[in-house]
Amino acid sequence: MHQMKDDIKYILADEKKIEGTCEKLAAQINADYPDHDRELVFVIVLKGSVFFATDLIRRVNRPCTMEFMKVSSYGSGVETSGFIQVSLDLKRDIKDADVIIVEDIIDSGRTLQKLCSLLATRGAHSVKTCALLDKPERRQVDMEVDYSGIVIPDEFVVGYGLDYAEYYRNLPYIGVLDPSVYSE
Ligand code: IMP
Ligand code: MG
Repeated sequence: MHQMKDDIKYILADEKKIEGTCEKLAAQINADYPDHDRELVFVIVLKGSVFFATDLIRRVNRPCTMEFMKVSSYGSGVETSGFIQVSLDLKRDIKDADVIIVEDIIDSGRTLQKLCSLLATRGAHSVKTCALLDKPERRQVDMEVDYSGIVIPDEFVVGYGLDYAEYYRNLPYIGVLDPSVYSE
């Protein structure tokens, strides 16, 4: 029987490493947002960030809310198109709130750059970004993440929410996808 793990070249971050990273990032956020008077909203970018967001936000120890957005840039390939489209927008006003955008991975940087400027135009008090993974070698725009988890090499990764053609999201770890899977 073909198993998902047969398509993984090597594991980049196992469950323990992911857990430690969520703890580290949540501790930074807890230290940076002590003021309970202003709303702290986590804007979770669907679908890849869902596993990460639940593990991260469970460790945030102050009142906060969660909203979702969906942005498309990749289609089912492994290369960015450079074109970003908001396919599911927020259903509410974020005026005066502190916003933290939660992303699975920053690659070219276009998605986070576009989301940051979009949410800033809506009157948020502050907009920051949090990404579990960072591929700095791939950056095409000037964009740095405020809360950055694990820096990884320029390889296509799947698991823990990250997909290839919508599959592999349910792997509990993050692994490098064997290129034979997408280069036919
Ligand atoms: P960016 O706009 O190029 O920074 O791309 C960010 C989006 O591309 C992420 O939210 C992912 O959905 C997708 N992406 C980038 N690299 C990978 C990868 O290695 N595996 C799976 N998805 C990726
Ligand atoms: Mg994706």
